[in-house]
Amino acid sequence: MIELVEVSKRYAGDAASWAVRQLSLTVADGELVALVGESGSGKTTLLKMVNRLIEPDHGEVRIAGRDVRGEDPVALRRTIGYVIQHAGLLPHLSVSDNVAMVPWLLGWGRGDIDRRVDELLALVGLSPAEYRARFPDQLSGGQRQRVGVARALAARPQVVLLDEPFGALDPITRVALQRELARIHRELALTTILVTHDMVEALTLADRVVVMCRGELRQVATPHEMVTAPADEYVARLVDVVRDQGRQLQALAASERTERPAPVQEDGDGG
Ligand SMILES: Nc1ncnc2c1ncn2[C@@H]1O[C@H](COP(=O)(O)OP(=O)(O)O)[C@@H](O)[C@H]1O
Ligand SMILES: [Mg+2]
Repeated sequence: MIELVEVSKRYAGDAASWAVRQLSLTVADGELVALVGESGSGKTTLLKMVNRLIEPDHGEVRIAGRDVRGEDPVALRRTIGYVIQHAGLLPHLSVSDNVAMVPWLLGWGRGDIDRRVDELLALVGLSPAEYRARFPDQLSGGQRQRVGVARALAARPQVVLLDEPFGALDPITRVALQRELARIHRELALTTILVTHDMVEALTLADRVVVMCRGELRQVATPHEMVTAPADEYVARLVDVVRDQGRQLQALAASERTERPAPVQEDGDGG
């Protein structure tokens, strides 16, 4: 379980505004929580306070009931999977050395590491024989993200943090990786926080969706609740963007004309 209790962070040089303000959130064991919000809303700051890449000014972060301030930050980070947008692979290391990094730092034996690397590459859908010896610049964007996920899971973390991991991928690759992530999350019974600015990604993958705006929570709800009962105008607008896209697609499919149908009005028939 991950618990954030009234956590606040204000960056030096930005005295006027809080990046994250008195935010409380609990993520249960085995849960996948998606954190959504526009750019600058404090998502990355929040995530980095969980693995102590950033220290909060106020409040407390607990993992499995233990205050993270009591842990050595480096040791803590080796027990938490972390995936970022461009995978952050080390370019001069092979795929297998990238994936093996944390087990190696933890002092695992060579045989255990080799077995683990093969197991992980298979888990993320990359044939070990084909990909082990490649370098990051010999991979597609989607393959790099797969390796990033494999690396994050190498030392069998219980908690995994992902910061817009699929944001830079084309839509088809993105959907494939979203499905894989959901499968891996379930198979390994992980506790996952997924940061995204993509409301569709959040609604389709998460057990609960958290909407942030200017460092504060607007709503924490299941996807169903969020779609049927958005807490305020802001959340409603985020949901409506998705709904309007769906309507426009349906209108196109239903249209017999070859020209573009008129855009669906916001206050239309309520569909
Ligand atoms: N290192 C930093 N120094 C100063 N301000 C920062 C720093 N990192 C983020 N911020 C500010 O904090 C706010 C939240 O940023 P961030 O957590 O990166 O949001 P998000 O991930 O939702 O885009 C923004 O206003 C951003 O400009
Ligand atoms: Mg961010």
